[in-house]
Amino acid sequence: MITQEKQIGTQIDQNDSSNAIIDIKDLRKSFGDNHVLNGFNMKLFKGENLVVMGKSGSGKSVMIKCLVGLMKPDSGQIRVMGKDIIELDQEELDTLRADIGFLFQGSALYDSMTVRENLEFPMRRHKDKLGEISDTTPYVLEALESVGLEHTMDLMPEELSGGMKRRVALARAIILRPKIIFYDEPTSGLDPITSKEIIGLMRNIQKKYGTSSLIITHDVDCARVISERMILLVDGINYAEGTFEELIKSEDSKVQAFFKK
Ligand SMILES: Nc1ncnc2c1ncn2[C@@H]1O[C@H](COP(=O)(O)OP(=O)(O)O)[C@@H](O)[C@H]1O
Ligand SMILES: [Mg+2]
Repeated sequence: MITQEKQIGTQIDQNDSSNAIIDIKDLRKSFGDNHVLNGFNMKLFKGENLVVMGKSGSGKSVMIKCLVGLMKPDSGQIRVMGKDIIELDQEELDTLRADIGFLFQGSALYDSMTVRENLEFPMRRHKDKLGEISDTTPYVLEALESVGLEHTMDLMPEELSGGMKRRVALARAIILRPKIIFYDEPTSGLDPITSKEIIGLMRNIQKKYGTSSLIITHDVDCARVISERMILLVDGINYAEGTFEELIKSEDSKVQAFFKK
């Protein structure tokens, strides 16, 4: 395993676990003989953009599902905002999830709901966080404005292009003003120009709301633009860590493989 010792990106003391808004230790998950995660470690620090890169099938989605309590790991520790995810009951998990925005792989809008209803969905699920709201419209509009799509409020997902759907999914991810956003392959399936737009929006959102972001991707261009720090997931572990510039210079063949086009 390669660990870059140099001071990286942010000014945060990376050895101080108390700065970590997410702390994953020795995460393991297998499906039968398929050992997907074999002792994966990851810290996400407050306010940073961390990119986790791994090739298709390397366990990125499995890791993120463990992280939000959608999947139970075989072993390991996962602390999110100071809470031990694996120990939480359903109600405690729900409370925690209200502070986490999630952009699912492939947008995952509800096809039978309008854009507005898609955005209202997390608001209904997490009523406690928002308190009594008589009119959801200002929330829906503000989130849509952040992605430049106010005019789509009453449309159905099928009336939107792939890029617009992704932007609506992004609006839905931020509607509860989360402290952390997880992006699972935010640019997958999009053309290069639309990908750039989405990346631009992700940066704007981080600036506007000061969120910490975990971005899962295998898109080198996305990683280059958005990452302050990167972790390469290889063979189920955090194989290499560092900034984009540090990693692209690495002479390790498994690291190099990521950057070859
Ligand atoms: N629910 C599941 N049951 C069995 N195998 C699974 C399940 N979810 C994921 N896997 C397997 O775990 C591996 C990693 O999958 P995934 O995390 O989706 O990869 P990716 O890095 O592309 O997101 C794959 O081999 C996949 O087939
Ligand atoms: Mg995936």
